[in-house]
Amino acid sequence: MRLAAPCCCAAKERRLGKGSAFRLCLLSATLLLCLQLLLRYSRGSANAKLLGADAVAEHSPGTSRNGKANGATAPRRRQVTYVRNGLRRSAAEPTCCLQGAPPHNSRRKTIRWHIDLQPWASPIPSLSKEALRLLKYISTIQMSCDHMNKNLPETPDSLKRPWAVCLDDRLNLVHRMKSKQCRLYSLGLGDDDNQFELSMANSGCEVHRFDPSIKPAHIQEGHLWYHRLSIDWRDPNPAIAAHKLHASTKKLGTILNDFGHHEIDILKADMESAEWKILENLILEDVVPRIGQLVFEIHVHWPGFEVSGNDSTVVRYWYSLLKELELKDFRLFYTYKDLSKPQIFLKREAFNASSCYTLSWVNTRWK
Ligand SMILES: *[C@@H]1O[C@H](CO)[C@@H](O)[C@H](O)[C@H]1NC(C)=O
Ligand SMILES: *[C@@H]1O[C@H](CO)[C@@H](O)[C@H](O)[C@H]1NC(C)=O
Repeated sequence: MRLAAPCCCAAKERRLGKGSAFRLCLLSATLLLCLQLLLRYSRGSANAKLLGADAVAEHSPGTSRNGKANGATAPRRRQVTYVRNGLRRSAAEPTCCLQGAPPHNSRRKTIRWHIDLQPWASPIPSLSKEALRLLKYISTIQMSCDHMNKNLPETPDSLKRPWAVCLDDRLNLVHRMKSKQCRLYSLGLGDDDNQFELSMANSGCEVHRFDPSIKPAHIQEGHLWYHRLSIDWRDPNPAIAAHKLHASTKKLGTILNDFGHHEIDILKADMESAEWKILENLILEDVVPRIGQLVFEIHVHWPGFEVSGNDSTVVRYWYSLLKELELKDFRLFYTYKDLSKPQIFLKREAFNASSCYTLSWVNTRWK
């Protein structure tokens, strides 16, 4: 068709010289034919362009902007390929933007719903392998502490309580106690033993004891506060809480925010098996980095509140929780096997275990 048009116009020029009416008529007819051919040609090429654009759009949805650009087919395709590569790259590497983003942005994205489970202790899951791994883990010190608080039990059957905090000079706690900036949270369930809290209050700590059994909402005795609150791993449903007079159960992160406390130097928890879910909540909500030392009594005679699965699954879950602390640079410096409690592990007398251990960790990232 490209050749047909110039040939037609050349014929028109040659015939103009003769001048006869018949030939003029013939010329007009030829001209009309030429025009028609030209029209068809231009319409055809327009269709071809449209078809080309459609084809591009089909190949890469969302890139029709490039398909409309002028130019021959080959460069247009190259352009499209480039765009598609770009799209694929950004989809395959979602971390590229996180790395460059300010910490505020990446923090917002770290919402966690589950702790990371450690691999099974053995290729075929077995309770004894899981139990022995956990028991070995909780009886192995990861960091030595030269100066601990006084009144720790020297023998396993001592009446003294094993609440150990590390007062080594290289850690910040001892200095914060001297400058009376230390803050201790004590979670318990109406336990009468107050010796540890009193001695910490007398050594320069502001002590907050959470005890749902007291009557007034808050009591202050010197540096020792009592709050009629109990710590949970979830906030109560407001609809239910409204009907309960003494419903004052909150997550630790919520209490920290309510009290305007950004950090706690020591968190002591004696929660009769609620400690596992509370610890999980502190890890998932990233509250643990705000705590300097952890003193937890852990219970292993039953899975604990809202911990489900068969026995090996439960022990693996406990172990994974403690490993999460280690990953956050907490180091175990004190471990106490309580022989005054029943020697039971998941309802069995087995593994030479006690139902109750007291463990203390230092957060080595604590400033
Ligand atoms: C416990 O449950 C886990 C996961 O559901 C399973 O893989 C494992 O074999 C079970 N262990 C025993 C001892 O039944
Ligand atoms: C059982 O535990 C006790 C106290 O921790 C320890 O003295 C004893 O050696 C253990 N027995 C065995 C067989 O491991």
